Parts: sequence; C-alpha cells; structure tokens
Amino acid sequence: MKANQIPFRIKSLEDYQRSFEYSQEDPEGFWSSIAQAYHWKKPWEKTLEWDFQSPSVKWFINGQLNITENCLDRHIPTQGDQIALIWEPNDPQESTKQYTYRQLLSEVNKMANVLKDQGIRKGDRVCIYLPMIPELAFATLACARIGAIHSVVFAGFSSNAVADRINDAQCAYVITSDGLNRGAKQIPVKSVVDEALALCPCVQKVLVVNRLNWPIHMQNDRDYWYHERLNHVNDHCEATTMDSEDDMFILYTSGSTGKPKGVVHTCGGYMVYAGYTFANVFQYNPGDIFWCTADIGWVTGHSYILYGPLLQGATTVMFEGIPTYPDAGRFWQVIDKHNVNIFYTAPTAIRSLMASGVDHVLSYNLHSLKLLGSVGEPINEEAWHWYHTHVGKGKCPIVDTYWQTETGGIMISGMGGIHPQRPSYAGFPIPGIQLMLVDAEGKEIHGNGVEGNLCVKFPWPSILRTTYGDHERCRINYFATYNNLYFTGDGARREEDGMFRLLGRVDDVINVSGHRFGTAEIEDAINHCTKVIESAVVGYPHDIKGQGIYAYVILEHDENANDQTRDEIIESVVDVIGKIAKPDKIQFVRGLPKTRSGKIMRRILRKVAEGETNALGDTTTLLDPTVVDEIIATRL
Ligand code: WTA
Repeated sequence: MKANQIPFRIKSLEDYQRSFEYSQEDPEGFWSSIAQAYHWKKPWEKTLEWDFQSPSVKWFINGQLNITENCLDRHIPTQGDQIALIWEPNDPQESTKQYTYRQLLSEVNKMANVLKDQGIRKGDRVCIYLPMIPELAFATLACARIGAIHSVVFAGFSSNAVADRINDAQCAYVITSDGLNRGAKQIPVKSVVDEALALCPCVQKVLVVNRLNWPIHMQNDRDYWYHERLNHVNDHCEATTMDSEDDMFILYTSGSTGKPKGVVHTCGGYMVYAGYTFANVFQYNPGDIFWCTADIGWVTGHSYILYGPLLQGATTVMFEGIPTYPDAGRFWQVIDKHNVNIFYTAPTAIRSLMASGVDHVLSYNLHSLKLLGSVGEPINEEAWHWYHTHVGKGKCPIVDTYWQTETGGIMISGMGGIHPQRPSYAGFPIPGIQLMLVDAEGKEIHGNGVEGNLCVKFPWPSILRTTYGDHERCRINYFATYNNLYFTGDGARREEDGMFRLLGRVDDVINVSGHRFGTAEIEDAINHCTKVIESAVVGYPHDIKGQGIYAYVILEHDENANDQTRDEIIESVVDVIGKIAKPDKIQFVRGLPKTRSGKIMRRILRKVAEGETNALGDTTTLLDPTVVDEIIATRL
C-alpha cells in the first residue's frame, strides 16, 4: 500500500486494519500522510528524529503552522456560519451562548489582541485559572494564536497549588475571573489568585473576566478587567508562525514522586494527533454535535472540548455546571436541549448518576445520541451496562478511551461502532501506536492472553516532549524504567483477540474520580498539619470515585486522635492541593509497617484498606510486625 492510500478518516474495520498495519511498518510514512490533512504555513523537511534515551522526540521538523488557523481560519470559507461552540451555563435559567466559526475566530482574535496589549509575546507562559465559561476557550486559543504557552490550571485547585504551578512555569501573566458557579454555590476565584500571587513574584499582570459581578480587589497596575480592555482592540490578529516543535502548552499532572510536573506538548505533533484521534475514535461526521463533559483544566478538555473538535470543524459543547444541579437529570436535559449526538464523560460521573436512580434519565428521550464515550479510568461492567441501556438505549456504541496527559490524545480505544466492544475493555491501539507489554525486568511479553506493564516502543506525534524546566525528571519518570521504552505507569492485559484491558496503575499514583494524585503528594499535604508526625496514603476501591483516598496518620504524642484533628488534616489537604484531594478515610495509627531499611510496605497498607486482612503475605521482614496487628484492629 502507498502512503497516499492511507485514509485520514477510518470508516470500516478494513480501513482500521490497513491503517494500523501500514503505521507499524512505516510510522513516519503513516504520520506524514495523516499530517497532510492540515494547513502548514511551511511544509516539514523531515518527519521524525527521536531517541528515547535522552529523551528527544521531534516531529515534522522545520514545519511551520499555527494550530488556531487549523481550528478556525481554515473553516471560515466553507463553514463560517456553522456553530463551533455551544456554551451551556450552570443555571438552566440562564441563556445558552453559541458562537459560529466566524464569531469564535473574532472572539479569539480580540482576546489575542488584549493579551498582546498586555505585553504577552511568543514563548511567554500564561497561567489560565478560569471556570468553564466561553472566555476560557477564547483565552486558551488566544494564547495558541500568539504563540504564548498556556498552562491551564483547574479552577478547583487551592491557592498554594496554583502558586506552585505559576512559579514552576515562571508565568508572568494570569487570566482569571471574579468567581465561579458550581451548582447552587458561587465560589470566589480572584481571591484565590490574590493569595497565590503573594507567593509569585514572577507575575506582572492579571486579566480578570467578570462572571458574577462581584466586587473584588483589583490591584493597580497589575489587575485589569477583560471587558474594559476589549474596548481597546479590534478583532483582527495575525496567527503567529510557530515551528512544529515550539512549545504549545504546559499541563500539570501528578506522578509517583514529589510535586506535580508540567507536561509539555509542542505545536505540530499535538495538532496532528488531537485531530486524527477525535475524527476516528468518535467517528465524527459533519453536522454532529459533540459534548465532552470534562473541564478544560484537564487534558481531556484540551484535546476533546477544544482542539480535536475544532480541528475537524465540529460543533463542540462546553458546560459550566455539574451533573447533579439542579437535579441528577441535568446531563440528559442538556443532551435533549442541544441534540447532542456524541457524548463523552467519565465513569465516576456515570456511577454517581446511577446512585441517584434511573428515573432522572428515563424522563428524557435522548433520541439524538449516536455514540457514547468514557475516559479517566476503566469503566466497570455495571456502569457500562447502565450507560449502554439507559443513556444509549441499547443502540449507541461505547468507546472506552485510554490515554494520559502525557500522551496528548487517545491511545487505546475502539473506533466507535467499527470495533467489537466489551465492557471494561478499552479496545485496540490507535493506528501509529506501537504498544508493548513487559515484565518487571523490561522483557517483552509476547503473544496474546497475557498481562504486563504497558509501554510504547515508538514515538507518536503527541508524546510529551519534556517536563517543564526539568528534563531529567521526564527521563526518569517515563523513559528510564525500561530501556528504550515509554512507560505509562499502567498495567494491562492483552486478550486472545488482541483487545486491551487496563488493570490500573502499577506505581504510587491513585486515580480518584478520574483525577491523578501521587500518594507522596497527598502525604506531603497531610504532613503540613502541625499535629502530624508521619503519614502514608493508599488508594482503596470506592463505589463512586473508583478509588478513594485512605490515609494512615501518626500524630504527635500529645495530640488527640479525634474528629477535630481529622478536620484539621483535611483542611491541610484542601489548603495545599484543593478539595478534590480530600482523604476519604483517616486512620490514626501508632506506627507504620516499615522494613528494616525504613521503607513503608504499602502493599500491606493497601490490603488493609481494601479489607483483605487475611492475605497480607510475608510480614516477617518488618521492623516491628506487631504494628500490623494494631492497624488491622483499628481499621476504618
Ligand atoms: C487512567 C486522562 C483505564 C490511567 C485522559 C492513566 C484509564 C491515567 C483510562 C491518566 C481508561 C485514563 N481506562 N484507565 N479508559 N483513561 N485512565 O493524565 O491510569 O488525567 O494512566 O489523563 O488515567 O490520567 P490523565
């Protein structure tokens, strides 16, 4: 087969197989054929240079582009009046907003000009700490338009967490809002930024979007209202020419050690992969309305609310609210209201809606739905069947999409409706993805019907390039465990038919409601509480969240192990990270199971948290085996 016979859009199992086989034999030919589908200001000279030792990966070398021209300008002649973005507010009584491609381009250009007026230039880092309002989409795209590197921080993180991220990337600019809506609550945002900025000398300017009409503190010569700055700009803004390998954005994510790291993605490869995976996994057809319920503060929102859909000229829905406000039928009401065809959400959301009873979903007809998606963790069978039966009415294929912040786009999934589906199985590798299962020593596990640690042996266009400011950390985290392989940190099983089933993290990362936290990161936050001497955190199965956070805590000897202390510990975590990392259970203990060399045996703590106290394995190597009996006796 020749490269020019590779279809961009996979329409059949045969297309998938042809693409997949070609991509494994000639990955560079494959991706250079796919990349032709985009607008390049200057074509690339060489498709790929790579080595996983450094690591160093470069795609579409010396190619020039701007992703927003591909997301916006390119569609204007043929679909300028088509809706690009539908924004649904938190409160169903408030009006929806819609932007055609032409209007969205105009809004992005205005925002881009405001940013330029503020002195923001190509390569500058901009922290975006905004709720899910249209200005978040404008700001993100505006950064990409002028070549500024966006670092979107989920607006639920605490001021300390924001400050860490701002300082790590040395952001000179922040874009935020007065406050945000979350269900029945209104939550301050600007005051969180104000607290953060007391710790961030690098920040020069703050742009503030008015969402709630709240009186807020505005610091002279630093803080500016967005709506006032808009009076000084027009809606023309040339897209800055970017090199394919120029940094495009930073997104912080947790690993097994230390503080969250800034995953860096670059312009060309990210564009090619986000658009390709969106078009194929979701089998997007012109006119379809696509809704991804993630927040743009996470990678899912980056790739499948904004960039993927807009690259393909889709209509994408952005939702400010939560699934349970004003009631647990809100998702289904929005689907009917906007005639959503493709719906992409997380298992934790499905499980929490299941818990509210099926009546909420049965009162909507959901006729428009054609395809459903899931992301963030494996979708358990019960949730899969509920989703399939009650939301998809038995007729919508479900794609279970496995990927990571570091991978930029979906890595394993069925192509919607094309591949066979099986609950709790993610499916097959995306063409161009060369997976490998290895044992603990890094030896390849061949054949099917096998399990191992999931690695990738060849680069794909949107693989992370580095972790911001610390390349060595990137190498050690992802490329040093196994020689010449990218290691995902997940375990997986490859079935007889080649289908992949994800088995969860094999490192000290826990996945709470689809959000990643390092156990060390939470322990560090707990230890901020002055009453705490030491702590150990593990995940345990949680009906709604997938995994819950179980903390074992040793207190200073004269402190009381009571609810007040528990509240103070929780307060510490909320302060250091945010509400999303609150421990579900805190057990006070007098000691932790440690080896003679002082290493905590987490395996034992995990088993106790899971309630499997009979299968603790060998505890004789512990410094003090009696600690375990006590932990079991006081288990929560
Ligand atoms: C887990 C989210 C099983 C996995 C896009 C991965 C999944 C981590 C799935 C990345 C899935 C995500 N099946 N596990 N469909 N999707 N994961 O960076 O452990 O927030 O390593 O990216 O979530 O989380 P991240």
